[in-house]
Amino acid sequence: MALDRKAPNDLNAFWMPFTANRQFKKNPRMLVAAKDMHYTTSDGRQVLDGTAGLWCCNAGHCRPKITEAIQRQAAELDYAPAFQMGHPVAFELANRIIEIAPKGIEHVFYTNSGSESVETALKLAIAYHRAKGQATRTRLIGRERGYHGVNFGGISVGGIVNNRRHFGSLLNGVDHLPHTHLPDNNRWSRGQPEHGAYLADDLEKLVALHGAETIAAVIVEPVAGSTGVILPPKGYLEKLRAITKKHGILLIFDEVITGFGRLGAPFASQYFDVLPDMMTTAKGLTNGVIPMGAVLTTAELHDAFMDGPENMIELFHGYTYSGNPIASAAGIATLETYKEEALFERAAEIAPYWEDALHSLRDSRHVIDVRNMGLIGAVELDPIAGEPTKRAFSAFLAAYDKNILIRTTGDIIAMSPPLMITRDQIDTLIGTLADVLKSLD
Ligand SMILES: Cc1ncc(COP(=O)(O)O)c(C=O)c1O
Repeated sequence: MALDRKAPNDLNAFWMPFTANRQFKKNPRMLVAAKDMHYTTSDGRQVLDGTAGLWCCNAGHCRPKITEAIQRQAAELDYAPAFQMGHPVAFELANRIIEIAPKGIEHVFYTNSGSESVETALKLAIAYHRAKGQATRTRLIGRERGYHGVNFGGISVGGIVNNRRHFGSLLNGVDHLPHTHLPDNNRWSRGQPEHGAYLADDLEKLVALHGAETIAAVIVEPVAGSTGVILPPKGYLEKLRAITKKHGILLIFDEVITGFGRLGAPFASQYFDVLPDMMTTAKGLTNGVIPMGAVLTTAELHDAFMDGPENMIELFHGYTYSGNPIASAAGIATLETYKEEALFERAAEIAPYWEDALHSLRDSRHVIDVRNMGLIGAVELDPIAGEPTKRAFSAFLAAYDKNILIRTTGDIIAMSPPLMITRDQIDTLIGTLADVLKSLD
């Protein structure tokens, strides 16, 4: 059956995620094609992608190597059972991931999304302590304003109020660290803010309150994205690592957006030189093209499970699509594209230009803060009194009309372009945004 994908059709059946459905369906914004840095809209416009889709198309769109790998794999081995059976492509991808992972990270557990990576890591943390004879360690610590996907574990350790408040009592035995957003001290910081490392000391308070022997893991985003770009103050992640280590608590970095070059290094762990026990990934692993995620672990964590009789399943966890052949092929082609085009290095090289361009918005109308790191940028707007989020959402709509795609969360504009963005395209993105800000009420 041929589908005319550009034809208007009935929009009612598809209940869209994280979307104002009724508003969207009255005035839809439809993307029908993409190439490199641009989307094509259904009305034929070229829109510059300032967000790499949803922080995921780090190599840009419709990259030939990835497209061809998917086509080839789909024709050769479409699916293989994931339990008690293997296929070479998934093993090959795992080795390639470990090649670029921080030293000390040696194993890959496949999932299908960032949310599933988070659930997997949280379960692994609890099961690890049990395997080590410390079954009382079940408590999970997240952070205010954290985003760890939308499943029950993730929203329990997460700290975005609207993602939690509608869904009942969530997981038991969860606590939260304070977030690290200190605008009074750190406004207009370039890169890592100076103030706030002391906020990691709150973990000592939680240890004193609950007892270290009840705590399995702490999970944080090294750079928080979905909450509106919150950066780790200098020394903060190092402190968190030291305190978790001291108390035998696992540290999980949620690298779903920071993984695969976003900061100009393969992972944030390398950028900050802090090694967690586990890293959750997804998005840039396959350039967003096919759903796939992965939890990366140390040998120590993995080896704790490799006990008991060899014919026994060591971990009662996994997904039908863990290491799916087509996703694995897309992953290998994605990693090859990153390498051949030196995209991580390129992100590092262009990051200072990106920083200068973003901070040129400091004096624009309504702007109350600018934050940046690697190829991530945030422009925070003064909210309209009594109408939070409205000003930023108006900016998003006006930007789309002017052919740039940005994202907003609350009254914060967040940007994370593909790593192939050029200086001219940065000028277009930020120049257009400056015009948009001028036009806003
Ligand atoms: C840090 C982090 N963790 C988890 C997720 C969830 O990923 P997914 O939407 O693939 O489930 C996201 C998505 O933006 C994320 O930013």
